Amino acid sequence: MKNVAVYVTGSIAAYKAVELVRALQKRGYAVRVAETYDAERLVGPATFASLTKEKVLSDLWADSAQGSVPHIELADWSDLAVVVPATANIIAKMAQGIADDAVSTALLATSAPVVVVPAMNVHMWENPATQRNIAVLKKDGCLVMDPATGYLAEGYRGKGRMPAVNQIVEYIGSAVQPAGILAGKRVVVTLGGTREPVDPVRFIGNRSSGKMGLAIAQAALQAGASVTIIAGSIQVALPSSPRVRVVSVLTTEEMAQAVQEQLPAADVLIMAAAVADFKIAHPATHKLKKQAVRSSYPLTLVPTTDILRMAGMRKKPGQLVVGFAAETDNLIAHAQDKLANKHADIIVANDVSDDQIGFGSDDNQVTVLRRGQEPEQWSRLSKKAVGQKLIKMITQLIGKED
Ligand code: CTP
Repeated sequence: MKNVAVYVTGSIAAYKAVELVRALQKRGYAVRVAETYDAERLVGPATFASLTKEKVLSDLWADSAQGSVPHIELADWSDLAVVVPATANIIAKMAQGIADDAVSTALLATSAPVVVVPAMNVHMWENPATQRNIAVLKKDGCLVMDPATGYLAEGYRGKGRMPAVNQIVEYIGSAVQPAGILAGKRVVVTLGGTREPVDPVRFIGNRSSGKMGLAIAQAALQAGASVTIIAGSIQVALPSSPRVRVVSVLTTEEMAQAVQEQLPAADVLIMAAAVADFKIAHPATHKLKKQAVRSSYPLTLVPTTDILRMAGMRKKPGQLVVGFAAETDNLIAHAQDKLANKHADIIVANDVSDDQIGFGSDDNQVTVLRRGQEPEQWSRLSKKAVGQKLIKMITQLIGKED
């Protein structure tokens, strides 16, 4: 049983905290609530008290005559603190260490992990002061959920909505008990496409959406792993979880650098990104003007770092390196070459000549190659299912090596 202290502050989304308390109780958590005076005006303490069968903390001085210190008691009791909804004001106070009411004082006193679920007007959220404070909280180790975008209480759309209750429960679940067969393992996934600059406004890129890599990252996350996503240019929303870290890169060399930094601590590297094989030898430092170009403009391309090969050659015993092979012809032969040349443990080969199963699509049809094994042809599946199957295979391989 885990003890969760829910700190409710004065955002209009406070009414949703009632539902969250119920949802947490249904999941087996013991819940106690503390409210600010502003939150009390939105949802009275009687509501939370009758749900939790516990006194709601809102007055710093309540019961002080009896010698009890309820804010410290709550801070010490909790295995997890959840500030939900978190106003710009409590975020600012937490970032500064201000303790001027029961909620802020208990939060300063708790040594439990703290999850912050901001909910506010879009302009308050975007205000540089709020963004600065959020950055401080993250640096201090708080787990901050990204607000959702949608219809706000003010009557217009924007970022600042409290995420759905089930999403918050999921987030809390992975914060307190990362269960699953990959718990404690670090998985690094590269995804999306890299971009090579031609000049400050133009680039050479590719059609990768990031969907396949995202499916793999999600499957690894579901299996309990800590996941680092190294993302190039993508057309998907990345998961928000305390076990996900996102490193955004643009060029192949930036991606190579990020992989190099992450590899030593990784158990598994999965190179799902579509990486440029060549970069412009000398990108222009100013925008190329068409008047200056007469009939043609030659671009000299030079090879980029082969990141998968670099990782395959550097990997230590126990580390697993997985690559992809995007082919339009001779799929198996080319993929076999990549398995050998890049020193990979697994190559997932896919035919990108078919738009139905290639870039941007939701399905994929892959053949999986492993050293010393016959190629395994998987039937056409959703990218989600391919991700799950691949993570299952990886889990079995890691298990064997342990
Ligand atoms: N890859 C990489 N670094 C590169 C190019 C590719 O790490 N500079 C990785 C990709 O992420 C993928 C695998 O290598 O996991 C194979 O990529 P692919 O584009 O299919 O093959 P290439 O090595 O680029 O060979 P070719 O383009 O000749 O097929």
